[in-house]
Amino acid sequence: MPQTVLVTGGAGFIGSHTCVELLDHGHDVVVVDDHSNSSPHALDAVQKLAGRPLAGAHRVDLRDRAALDSVFAAHDVDAVIHFAAKKAVGESMRIPLDYFDVNIGGTTALLCAMHEHGVRRLVFSSSCSIYGDTATVPLGEDEPAGPTNPYARSKHICEQLLGDACRRYPELSVIALRYFNPIGAHPSGMIGEDPTGVPNNVLPYMAQVAVGRLDELAVFGDDYPTPDGTCVRDYVHVVDVADGHRVAVDHLDDEAGLRVLNLGTGTGASVLELVARFSAAVGRPIPYRIADRRAGDVPILVADPSRVAAAWGWRTTRDLADMCADAWKFQRSHPHGYRSA
Ligand code: UD1
Repeated sequence: MPQTVLVTGGAGFIGSHTCVELLDHGHDVVVVDDHSNSSPHALDAVQKLAGRPLAGAHRVDLRDRAALDSVFAAHDVDAVIHFAAKKAVGESMRIPLDYFDVNIGGTTALLCAMHEHGVRRLVFSSSCSIYGDTATVPLGEDEPAGPTNPYARSKHICEQLLGDACRRYPELSVIALRYFNPIGAHPSGMIGEDPTGVPNNVLPYMAQVAVGRLDELAVFGDDYPTPDGTCVRDYVHVVDVADGHRVAVDHLDDEAGLRVLNLGTGTGASVLELVARFSAAVGRPIPYRIADRRAGDVPILVADPSRVAAAWGWRTTRDLADMCADAWKFQRSHPHGYRSA
């Protein structure tokens, strides 16, 4: 059944891909985004790609309750997907209070507005960083949480407050998707990752090296207890992640309360492996040097994706070569991000 889905952070990297997925499947989409780390041009590209307009796009900071209320008053919202948050681990160590304010304050304001407007269905953007420094490979959802930085802690606290809200209001249905490392771009090359400032994450950094905006990649540590000494992550194609959100919306009515599910491939790749794969996609080697470890990094994070597979028959369908090829297609056609268009 087509629904009206409100997407917070809908102009961001995962948000924009999810909007396309929802529009492609007949849903109406309302975007709320303050554009603090996203471009309004992403929404132009989303509509062009989907061949359909958004039902609404509102420049609103979630903590502005009056503005948020007017968005809910203007649309008959069936479900919410909540992406809008700050997400840089290193930055969160420098300015933790901003992370608590935006991520926890934003989620609280959203829940209050949903409550006031009788909206009871939510998909929450959570993170594998909640698992923290763990030796368990692969990681299942029942693994204890142990956030090691304020970003991860903010996501964990949000999951806990969503659980409390579900216990108090049994009509609520919430799915928290803990994703591992989303990379790549839409295969059209029309939308992709366009971080503000110098990228924190490895793939956007490499992509900017490939177009000459940055000189070389610093590989953070080669003395980890992993096969080649560099950190291993479960990279997952952003279109698979977007598809996972679309499918989650379809499953919100399966049961009430909070459900927590991993979104990952179950396969890890090291930083050097990713450099090699991305170099192959670009057609020339990406220059890199080995640098010191980055504070807060853990050696290995790989998902056990079996719970979501058992629940919905859902699994990822795109591999690391697809992720690199699609990320490169976006970066090559948008060397300066959406400002290039
Ligand atoms: C982190 C979070 C993740 C979050 C994501 C969003 C943790 C453990 N993970 O992922 O939950 O969703 O940020 O931003 O907190 N690297 C380099 N050079 C670089 C950048 C990164 O070598 O310039 C390495 C890192 O050391 C790491 C890997 O590449 O081993 C991936 O790093 P990154 O892309 O930043 O993601 P995570 O830190 O894994």
